[in-house]
Amino acid sequence: MQHIVISSQNKKEKYDELYQQLVHILHSEKDVIARMSTICSAIKEAFDFYWIGFYRVVDNELVVGPYIGTLGCLRIQKGKGVCGTAWKEEKTIIVKDVNNFEGHIACSSESKSEIVVPVFKENNIAAVLDIDHTEYATFDEIDQYGLEKIVTLIFI
Ligand code: SME
Repeated sequence: MQHIVISSQNKKEKYDELYQQLVHILHSEKDVIARMSTICSAIKEAFDFYWIGFYRVVDNELVVGPYIGTLGCLRIQKGKGVCGTAWKEEKTIIVKDVNNFEGHIACSSESKSEIVVPVFKENNIAAVLDIDHTEYATFDEIDQYGLEKIVTLIFI
């Protein structure tokens, strides 16, 4: 069985190690769902975040894709919640406290902080990566940098 092996304790270096291993694992895989699923699993092994998953743009809505965690909502409209806002504004959104994000969609009362990263296919957003955690202020620009790099591995 293949495992993600992370030796560093430093978050930036952990993302670098994770990225390098994903490049290796995914190098001959063309299927997008296989890539998304593997990325969810690898992030979970490296960081143990509470909810990790993708929402895909399908017919002008976000539709849930591969994820790890408790039940996520199935569809999100453009501009709604953190995911729909990241899609509409075409940028990563970091939420330190979900109670302070107007319109946040609470799939689980356990989630306290969140990051949503757009996934570009050519110049359009084809999906978003959504990660939630059970503690406040989990995510910062190091996560943003690391995750934005990892999602470039989906549509290549
Ligand atoms: N919190 C997200 C909804 C998806 S769940 O967290 C899995 C949002 O506000 O868009």
